[in-house]
Amino acid sequence: MEIAKLEPLVVLTGAGISAESGVPTFRAAEGLWRNYRAEELATPIAFHRDPHLVWEFYAWRRELIAACIPNQAHMFLTEIEKQISDFTLITQNVDGLHAAAGSRNIIEIHGSIWRMLCTSCGNRWDDRNIPLEKFPPLCPGCGEIARPDVVWFGETLDAYVIDRAFETVQRAHAILVIGTSGIVYPAAELPRIGKMHGAKLFEINTEETPISGIADQVYRSKATVGLQDWWADQQIK
Ligand code: OAD
Repeated sequence: MEIAKLEPLVVLTGAGISAESGVPTFRAAEGLWRNYRAEELATPIAFHRDPHLVWEFYAWRRELIAACIPNQAHMFLTEIEKQISDFTLITQNVDGLHAAAGSRNIIEIHGSIWRMLCTSCGNRWDDRNIPLEKFPPLCPGCGEIARPDVVWFGETLDAYVIDRAFETVQRAHAILVIGTSGIVYPAAELPRIGKMHGAKLFEINTEETPISGIADQVYRSKATVGLQDWWADQQIK
């Protein structure tokens, strides 16, 4: 069977795609840790005030994510990537589950929870230790305190990374947005920019979002189900 013209295809994912793997989304009640909202802990100010507290939060999330495996939606995207030569996956997720599933062309716009960044010398390194070897983690180079290499509220995204993301949506023929609340910028701007440049916009989400209103087609379902339905709809019968 032939597939409809989708290339270049961009898939933009948020926490909702990992929900069926057991990773709590940020804005759901189970995403709270000790009653703190992510916006209260995932900030440079919170880290400056109390690095221990912020690291406790990240140690909890690392442990939780380490126990999760990619779900059928992560896996299905790897199959789609094999069939679409111009395919880019832009993710806001820092959980690494897309890479674990086998996706190749991934832009992680909010960084990775499995990478460390030294607050003093800027050194970056991978660290998958559960539990953390040192608490809080220290830079192996200069011995200063490290932080997770993720983008926090109030921080700007890496210019090269976000430029690549914007360029990619601008030349997209189709954009599929899966499981994001569409309220965290600049990520939330990507579908809108793509649409302005002529892309057909699809959304898969269990709930209505600010993206729903501008989408050409909405799948009001879980990521695993919605993705299969969307792909079936792209087949030319
Ligand atoms: P949110 O927690 O804000 O939103 C998750 C979205 O997924 C919601 O719109 C839900 O309706 C939807 N959802 C939940 N379960 C789903 C399922 N099984 N299938 C499909 N959709 C489902 O997460 P994000 O939009 O990813 O930033 O949040 C954006 C950013 O804010 C995150 O990257 C993080 C966060 O704080 C940083 O860490 C910088």
